[in-house]
Amino acid sequence: ISQWRNLMFLFLFLFVFFFFFFAFVLPETYVFMVQARGIQIRENVKNIGAQVLEQVVRGAYSINGTDYSYDFNESESDAPSTTYLPEGFTYLPSQVCPEKLPSMKGRLEVNMSEISLEEVERSLLEREPTMALGGFWKPKDCLPRWKVAILVPFRNRHEHLPILLRHLVPVLQKQRLQFAFYVIEQGGTEPFNRAMLFNVGYKEAIKDLDWDCLIFHDVDHLMENDRNYYGCTDMPRHFAVKLDKYSYMLPYNEFFGGVSGLMVKQFKRINGFPNAFWGWGGEDDDLWNRVQFANYSVSRPYGDLGRYMSIPHHHRGEAQFLGRYSLLRHSKERQKVDGLNNLNYSPLISRSRLFTNITVSLSRKLAPVADY
Ligand SMILES: *[C@@H]1O[C@H](CO)[C@@H](O)[C@H](O)[C@H]1NC(C)=O
Ligand SMILES: *[C@@H]1O[C@H](CO)[C@@H](O)[C@H](O)[C@H]1NC(C)=O
Ligand SMILES: *[C@@H]1O[C@H](CO)[C@@H](O)[C@H](O)[C@H]1NC(C)=O
Ligand SMILES: *[C@@H]1O[C@H](CO)[C@@H](O)[C@H](O)[C@H]1NC(C)=O
Ligand SMILES: *[C@@H]1O[C@H](CO)[C@@H](O)[C@H](O)[C@H]1NC(C)=O
Repeated sequence: ISQWRNLMFLFLFLFVFFFFFFAFVLPETYVFMVQARGIQIRENVKNIGAQVLEQVVRGAYSINGTDYSYDFNESESDAPSTTYLPEGFTYLPSQVCPEKLPSMKGRLEVNMSEISLEEVERSLLEREPTMALGGFWKPKDCLPRWKVAILVPFRNRHEHLPILLRHLVPVLQKQRLQFAFYVIEQGGTEPFNRAMLFNVGYKEAIKDLDWDCLIFHDVDHLMENDRNYYGCTDMPRHFAVKLDKYSYMLPYNEFFGGVSGLMVKQFKRINGFPNAFWGWGGEDDDLWNRVQFANYSVSRPYGDLGRYMSIPHHHRGEAQFLGRYSLLRHSKERQKVDGLNNLNYSPLISRSRLFTNITVSLSRKLAPVADY
């Protein structure tokens, strides 16, 4: 009898567990994962069962409060004394800045409370009066190792931008990088085209300075660890490995969204982002494909360095791009004809204290695609 009762409890537990899992966790994360994997799944039908099982197991682990760790390697985050320079370490203004500075302490507080842009400007400039118009900054106590342009695609998220700047500017200063922020805002009524905005941002940014690398940064992603170094090492690099909204697990191995980075020479070589992705979704997978076709391999920060929190929101009025799967099937052929080389636009540029504002109206005829 008691065996039966145990068995019954077990079934009841499993039922309740899966009910909650499918009802609440799946719609948010799993459906997204499956959609984004569209191509691979179609080409790899036999593996679906295994993949579903893997995701369910991962989900179960993270529900317990224990992170599933992709590529888990704690040595970098847990051994500051051996890999990071000691407190009080001095360097000279004539020397190149170290990569693992004592000021990079690890875990960061994430403050998502809303704040006005003016207030962020005031407090950041008070801390670092040397920030120039447009948010240009470079360290004075050493020679910056990397010149990094931070590109942020933007539309209708005015409350998010000051939160990102308040969080990220001090981190980049601690990392002793030379940087500037470019906010590329899409005007007009066409669906959001994140990828094309990055292409525009790149083309405008390199007119300012010979940047070494580009960080493609969503406005709502806030890093949780200041040792997630935004310099150009090991690029192409995917920075946003573990997002709170995906229970701190990598949704799928080819995921390249949120925050990623390429060196300028790599970005040129892969012909930039595709311009043909209107509405959200798919453009990051296409960039992944382009990177693979160029035989680059993507690096990721180890362990918990790649954790991010995202400011909660819903894709307000932004349509999903349902045509992405058919485009992704032809990534390779399209790479030559769609990207930096077929892009036309007329930007409106202004410099505010902390960033350069590039406003563009986008439409399909600005990026005509030849037959492929
Ligand atoms: C779940 O949490 C408990 C208590 O913290 C722990 O003992 C157990 O190993 C965890 N299970 C998994 C699958 O991580
Ligand atoms: C962990 O990282 C260190 C260097 O940071 C590397 O030498 C080691 O091979 C890595 N271990 C695993 C299991 O990836
Ligand atoms: C978060 O930011 C707000 C506004 O800048 C500030 O008043 C508050 O003290 C901050 N909270 C924490 C925990 O730092
Ligand atoms: C990538 O590597 C493959 C196999 O080694 C080679 O055939 C191809 O030409 C390479 N592609 C590029 C863009 O270098
Ligand atoms: C950028 O400039 C445009 C036009 O001048 C303005 O409407 C928009 O609000 C600005 N965007 C941001 C994020 O400041």
